Amino acid sequence: MSPIISASGVGKTFRQLKRQSGFGGAIRSLFSRDYSEIRAVDGVSFAIEPGEAVDYLGPNGAGKSTMIKMITGILTPSAGSLSVLGREPHANRMVNAREIGVVFGQRSQLWWDLPVRDSYDLNRHIYDIPEARFADNLAFLTAMLDMAPYLDRPVRQLSLGQRMRAEIALALLHDPKILFLDEPTIGLDVVAKDAVRRFLSEVNKQRGTTIILTTHDLVDIEEICPRLIMVDDGKLLFDGELKRLRATLGSRRRLILEFATDPGPLALATATLAADEGATKHFLLENETVSLLDVLGELGRGHGLKDVKLEEPDIEEVIRTFYQNKPKLAAAL
Ligand SMILES: Nc1ncnc2c1ncn2[C@@H]1O[C@H](COP(=O)(O)OP(=O)(O)O)[C@@H](O)[C@H]1O
Ligand SMILES: [Mg+2]
Repeated sequence: MSPIISASGVGKTFRQLKRQSGFGGAIRSLFSRDYSEIRAVDGVSFAIEPGEAVDYLGPNGAGKSTMIKMITGILTPSAGSLSVLGREPHANRMVNAREIGVVFGQRSQLWWDLPVRDSYDLNRHIYDIPEARFADNLAFLTAMLDMAPYLDRPVRQLSLGQRMRAEIALALLHDPKILFLDEPTIGLDVVAKDAVRRFLSEVNKQRGTTIILTTHDLVDIEEICPRLIMVDDGKLLFDGELKRLRATLGSRRRLILEFATDPGPLALATATLAADEGATKHFLLENETVSLLDVLGELGRGHGLKDVKLEEPDIEEVIRTFYQNKPKLAAAL
């Protein structure tokens, strides 16, 4: 199988005129070549196989949207090569658009004042979707996303959860091979989030649609995307399974011991001291096989232990650790 998306050393540099103050400065800016360069995407390489579900993750300004815009053909890379379904996306924008569905969490693709159904009809014309195919897809999406109650209501009357489901359906009506979703669950309540996640996972598994998500929502990642591509400062930091990220970075359980009074420095073989707040000390258990009893056994009596708490590592912590330690980790990974 050849990759559905492949990026090789892709870069995108924006040039911005350096601001100079005052009228004279403005005039000088016009004539000088005083540009500052922003490397929004900097030498990024990856390959995504058909049917994968990937989270393209990174802090604000990391270059996620710029990369997605290059993949969808809106922007042209300034370095490297990019191939989507075997084509250069920016040189084949129209063909590319037929193969891709895009959902932006914050920006609607639906016509605000029209019934949901009318936006779908418009897309049927734009993408020239055969009548029977359209009817099938609409029926499938309406049932799966539970949209029957509001298909004939104007978009502006919908709740955020209903609108998001309607947006996702719109993006899928023309049977795209790749679906991009920018923060698809942001602002949704728990029930709506869950419905969206289950649906995306279903579309990915049943229909084999390749899904690329940008999300900070850790439950989204756990339930939809086995693979993470992490970027920061335009550069790729990590590409692999969440499992591997977790295994690499402190998937260790955290033990919090609270003493009546500060017992002084404590060194243990079964756990590493992670934070010392005097009477409260945080340890990371050395590995999966170490139990709470092992640590307490090693600690022994006589310390006046008041409370003990054992915390499972959560993915939020794993990702936080990742960003805090990125120079070290990028080298180790
Ligand atoms: N059209 C543009 N002109 C100049 N700079 C831009 C433009 N688009 C994005 N940038 C800059 O590129 C960097 C990456 O932006 P973006 O891809 O939007 O990041 P993200 O989506 O990860 O938040 C940021 O520093 C942003 O300010
Ligand atoms: Mg963005």
